[in-house]
Amino acid sequence: MKYLAPSLLSADFAKLGEEVRLVSEAGAEYIHLDVMDGMFVPNITFGAPVIKKIRPYSKAVFDVHMMVQNPRHYLDDVAAAGADLISIHQEASVHLDRDLNHIHELGCKAGVVLVPSTSLHTLDWILDLVDVVLLMTVNPGFGNQKFIPYSIDKIKALKQMITERGSNALIELDGGVKLDNCAQLCEAGADILVAGSAVFKNDAAANVKAFREILGKY
Ligand code: DX5
Ligand code: ZN
Repeated sequence: MKYLAPSLLSADFAKLGEEVRLVSEAGAEYIHLDVMDGMFVPNITFGAPVIKKIRPYSKAVFDVHMMVQNPRHYLDDVAAAGADLISIHQEASVHLDRDLNHIHELGCKAGVVLVPSTSLHTLDWILDLVDVVLLMTVNPGFGNQKFIPYSIDKIKALKQMITERGSNALIELDGGVKLDNCAQLCEAGADILVAGSAVFKNDAAANVKAFREILGKY
């Protein structure tokens, strides 16, 4: 099963609740929420208070992508706001093992995120601690950027690593995912596809359905 995670970064922030409801009812299984602090990435979005307000609009998996320095400071609030899955960057957490364990202690699934330049070797000792490995397929911080082509080899290598290790971790991809490349990404090994600008343009419900039609074939 392949899952779609519309990223709210490209949604209309003036009506976030309605946007969440719309894409959920159209068939999206996840809602991807990009928390940015203006430090780890050069952009600021929203945090736990906003997540808490939009939580009642959907039963989909709330997939929180923490693009912040020292994510440890925010984990309790984000979990209390209704996150189901919290993913933190390998590059931003000083004590990754502790933080991933803490996410589980809070009752959430735990994900680790790697930016494009970070090696899969950084997963060696923590792969067994995560439910999701989120590979950034653009440099984080902004929507509507171009998919980085070498990511395809990285996805395949990660898939092989997960299989060899007998891990149950799902592979999530974030950045530059469009209707015209999502089939190739599924074939490379993706389980969860984040899509921001490709979903929230023109008719979002129709876009979700178009994605679901392709993902349903895998
Ligand atoms: C970027 C964010 C993404 C972003 C993806 O740093 O993490 O979730 O919304 O946007 P698209 O799908 O437009 O590349
Ligand atoms: Zn994201």
